[in-house]
Amino acid sequence: MNLVLRITYVLLCSLFIWYTFNIYARAGEKRADDFDTNKAASGRLVWQNYNCQACHQLYGLGGYLGPDLTNVYSAGGKGEDYIKALIKSGTKQMPGFHLTELEMEQLMEFLKSTDASGSADPRSFITTRSGMIQQHAKQ
Ligand code: HEC
Repeated sequence: MNLVLRITYVLLCSLFIWYTFNIYARAGEKRADDFDTNKAASGRLVWQNYNCQACHQLYGLGGYLGPDLTNVYSAGGKGEDYIKALIKSGTKQMPGFHLTELEMEQLMEFLKSTDASGSADPRSFITTRSGMIQQHAKQ
């Protein structure tokens, strides 16, 4: 193998390793840990059992009858009490749900952890020079 090829090969391998390392190193960067991971995991099952995703989206994925709920937990003027009341009573378009205390608690933890994982609003994303996506402000 001639020298130029060798250098190119080593360079590309190094770049690949550097880039891969960077992606993995940054993967957990934004995670807040002020929620109970186990409870949030059970909450995800509650979310699935009651088919919330049939009408709601998380990070833009799901049904489109209701709004995206990724950041509803921290949305101004809303928060946990508002969410609980809305789930219990329902609205004209959303049926009310009769969750047990435990299910409600787990669901809140799930929504809290989802909220802490980032912002679903694409306007808060910027693309860096290396091609990665960063969040510059929480909406
Ligand atoms: C049949 C469709 C449907 C299902 C199923 C449904 N929702 Fe909704 N939801 C809606 C609609 C529509 C709205 C908007 C309500 C309105 O403005 O009247 C809404 C509103 C909400 C809101 C308020 C959002 C905001 O920004 O004010 C929350 C929180 C919510 N839903 C949570 C849930 C949860 C949790 C579940 C599962 C247990 C669920 N929803 C299941 C249709 C649904």
